[in-house]
Amino acid sequence: MSESSRHPFLTGLSKHRGAKPTILVIFGASGDLTMRKLIPALYNLSVDNLLPADFKFIGFGRKQMPNEDFREFSRKSIDDFSRRAMDADTWAGLESNFEYHCGAYDDLEAFKGLQNRILEIEKEYNRRFQLLFYISTPPSVFEPIITHLGECGLANHGSDEELIPKVVIEKPFGKDLESARALNTIIAKHFREEQIYRIDHYLGKETVQDLLVQRFANSIFEPIWNREYVSNVQITVAEQLGVGTRAGYYDQSGALRDMIQNHTMQLLSLTAMEPPVSLDPESIRDEKVKVLKAIQPLKLKHEGGDAIRAQYTEGLVEGKRVPGYMEEEGVPASSFTETYSALRLSINNWRWKGVPFYLRSGKRMARRISEIAVQFKQPPGILFGEGNKYDITSNVMVIRVQPDEGVTLIMNSKVPGLETRTQPVKMHFNYSTTYGSNTPEAYERLILDSMIGDSTLFIRGDETEESWRIITPLLDFWKEYGKTGLEHYTAGSWGPLASERLLWENKHEWRRPGN
Ligand SMILES: NC(=O)c1ccc[n+]([C@@H]2O[C@H](COP(=O)([O-])OP(=O)(O)OC[C@H]3O[C@@H](n4cnc5c(N)ncnc54)[C@H](OP(=O)(O)O)[C@@H]3O)[C@@H](O)[C@H]2O)c1
Repeated sequence: MSESSRHPFLTGLSKHRGAKPTILVIFGASGDLTMRKLIPALYNLSVDNLLPADFKFIGFGRKQMPNEDFREFSRKSIDDFSRRAMDADTWAGLESNFEYHCGAYDDLEAFKGLQNRILEIEKEYNRRFQLLFYISTPPSVFEPIITHLGECGLANHGSDEELIPKVVIEKPFGKDLESARALNTIIAKHFREEQIYRIDHYLGKETVQDLLVQRFANSIFEPIWNREYVSNVQITVAEQLGVGTRAGYYDQSGALRDMIQNHTMQLLSLTAMEPPVSLDPESIRDEKVKVLKAIQPLKLKHEGGDAIRAQYTEGLVEGKRVPGYMEEEGVPASSFTETYSALRLSINNWRWKGVPFYLRSGKRMARRISEIAVQFKQPPGILFGEGNKYDITSNVMVIRVQPDEGVTLIMNSKVPGLETRTQPVKMHFNYSTTYGSNTPEAYERLILDSMIGDSTLFIRGDETEESWRIITPLLDFWKEYGKTGLEHYTAGSWGPLASERLLWENKHEWRRPGN
């Protein structure tokens, strides 16, 4: 196996040393994501000596900003948001490589100016650089940025395949199947698929990567990971926050687009996929796409359908009173945008036929927590099945994605004493206890992987379209019916009562996440 096709799960970080000389250009450099995540990630990569020796970072934005101000903005973002405190020497080595380029995203001249600056840097260093374009703007300007990169030749900069330019695209990737296809078509005019890195930052989280290791590096799980032993799978991505100041964006999106279509579908495909033939990116992504293809169209009905949507109403979160969604600033009075959605999905393949996958995501839920819970079938009630005497639960394997990352196995055990009584107990593996709490942030991994050309943790074009294929008919159905069928739940709860119906119909119930 060649060095470049080996996977980081197996090789640790050693393969990252010697990353190619890179000029990273971030579009939307004055934005929230750049400030809170991307610049701190660059800093932490630098602390770990994982940036290439020849590295330049150009922030691109519409705002006028001298380089000194951009460096000050970057320094402050590290001070405020880095997981590790600012080290003066590291910053001194890094900051001289940060600069700013002012321009509008729809102005070809601004891109030609960027190109000239890149050529100047290459001349100065007397070498070619790999160009890494990171689009961290609102989606309305994804298209002009990609088009201008193509039109001025930056998408094909240089002739060295090793240093082929790459483009990283933030979520949301489209707002439905049609727009995702259109975006894929526009990108494909200028970039080949192997140059494209579609981000879902959930894939950069340690536990999400660990899921493949748990499944395929342990022989005890794989034999029972199927319809013979698994009763149902529950994937929860719950937030405590409301819409805050982002109502303008959120009301156009909703929980289904914002969370389910990307994060929970990614968790589902990693949980349900077949073992890949190897750990190279295409083998893994092929298996993820196959699972998505096997997902059956959702039953679209108000009664007995496969989906629930709801909005939060006023309630208590952590003892503090918070307003309902309709009272949040900037939410239109006519809004029927869901802040919670839950789906029941059927995967029509040999492994999973008959095992429901329940997905839910909401804002203003009781806790901030993301987890995958694989619920196994009840043991036959022959020995410990009588009446209330024994407290027997079905086994559950819980993969906690955030916070408190780890894995818990829930089993039944005898309570000590002369009488035979049973009780569910938990076996815990906790990341921070085992490995310490200072694990890399998702964006560190993702920037590094895009820099070294490992696309495993990024979403392929067909993957994003498959996911939209499942979701889009539901979006259309909800749009057609407006407020009809829209449920409500109290802020600080675990969602609407109606979402229990999705599970009761199969005699299942939602587990209480975190338990
Ligand atoms: N923030 C997060 O935590 C987060 C998390 C996951 C994904 N994302 C995704 O990452 C991308 C960036 O998010 P963000 O929160 O950083 O966005 P943002 O702060 O709203 O915008 C980023 C930058 O884009 C430019 N911009 C803003 N509105 C624009 C418009 N209407 N037309 C043209 N340019 C505009 C601004 O830079 P200039 O004025 O300097 O040009 C702004 O600083 C989005 O696609 C978002 O969905 C964000």
